[in-house]
Amino acid sequence: MNTVEVITKKRNGIILSDEEIRYMVNGYTDGSIPDYQMAAFLMAVYFQGMNKEETIALTDFMRRSGDTVDLSGIEGIKVDKHSTGGVGDKTTLIVGPLASACGVPVAKMSGRGLGFTGGTVDKLESIPGFHTSMEECDFINQVNQRGIAVIGQTGHIAPADKKIYALRDVTGTVENLSLITSSIMSKKLASGSDAILLDVKCGSGAFMKTEEEAEKLGRLMVEIGNSSGKKTMAIISDMEQPLGNAVGNALEVMEAIDVLKGKGPEDITELSLQLAGMMVYLGGAAGTAGLDMEEGMAKGREAAAKALASGDALERFKSFVSGQGGNPAIADDYGLLPQAGIAIDVPAKADGYIHGLDAMKIGLASQHTGAGREKKEDSVDLSAGIVLRRKCGDEVRRGDILCTLYGNDLEKTERAAGEAAEAFAIDQIRPEPRLLIKKIIG
Ligand code: URA
Repeated sequence: MNTVEVITKKRNGIILSDEEIRYMVNGYTDGSIPDYQMAAFLMAVYFQGMNKEETIALTDFMRRSGDTVDLSGIEGIKVDKHSTGGVGDKTTLIVGPLASACGVPVAKMSGRGLGFTGGTVDKLESIPGFHTSMEECDFINQVNQRGIAVIGQTGHIAPADKKIYALRDVTGTVENLSLITSSIMSKKLASGSDAILLDVKCGSGAFMKTEEEAEKLGRLMVEIGNSSGKKTMAIISDMEQPLGNAVGNALEVMEAIDVLKGKGPEDITELSLQLAGMMVYLGGAAGTAGLDMEEGMAKGREAAAKALASGDALERFKSFVSGQGGNPAIADDYGLLPQAGIAIDVPAKADGYIHGLDAMKIGLASQHTGAGREKKEDSVDLSAGIVLRRKCGDEVRRGDILCTLYGNDLEKTERAAGEAAEAFAIDQIRPEPRLLIKKIIG
């Protein structure tokens, strides 16, 4: 087969055969196809798209490029949750303990943040002593003993995606339906769970900017998951403004604990209960087995709300943290988490209502405080980030604090504060409330 011919075919909008797709995936993974040819291929896919059959083949060859995790040593139905990425999305830290406290074994592999989006692994690493790499047998033991473990993705899971994603990130080819689907689903299908819950974000702080695009992505991923024998559901949720109030690693851990104590922001509490309820239903736990979708999700949510109110989910979080070497006392004393040396408040410039709070701008400002990385090799400042004091729909008076920027480098933090101020749009008319959960795809 000839690489230039495959690139040219896709460039001209011709449907590729399974063989041609396999050739590109395997050739790039083993190094026989260089970056510049794969970059041209990805750009051709970006503009011409792929049909469903091509996307299924791409996902399958990427999944088969590495190992499949064997979670059969864990009893019960293992349910994985994956978010397509957003700003302030710390739901894994809340939903994992909630679902686990309801009897769902949570054995999760997560990623690091890149660009303006955060990653669960970085957030967890802000907990002193916490380690996110473990031998497979220790990972399985922890899930059996404590009901939950979260580790970083290993290089053996879908290595094709690892290489292709890094190339997409620097060639402007991330935001494509087939490429996102194959990237997410190749990893999820290889990660050994029995069921998958996908949180597809839409809005300015997400890869999918509109609800229509997000729904298309959700439906395609659900179809691929189900046709691969894993019960898969998706939820389309709002990412026009950040989720919750905290953006940045240690700040997000504090907010997640606040939610588990029942005193977190309303939006993230609501989404977490919904996601946990869906995980409970997918796992057939808490008496949901055999119920239809609506009933099962409602019963699952009820169980999750009980685990939150009783403090069981918070206890589960502490046990999970100590199982992975972290100090569980952080749950009672946030001072034990990394603390920034600088705090800068951003005041409102006018009276009115917050009409818009651009999630991407906040994500970028947070990244520029040091909380995120621009290149994969960059280190992150675990204490840095932003806490929002006002969100969409809130009334403000000139001089009220809109948000606080945290960092350790004065120049960087001041510049980021200027960027964060630009994220807020103030108007005289109260806006319509935003819908957080837009659709459920079962
Ligand atoms: N998350 C992934 O893992 N891959 C993508 O392509 C986008 C979001």
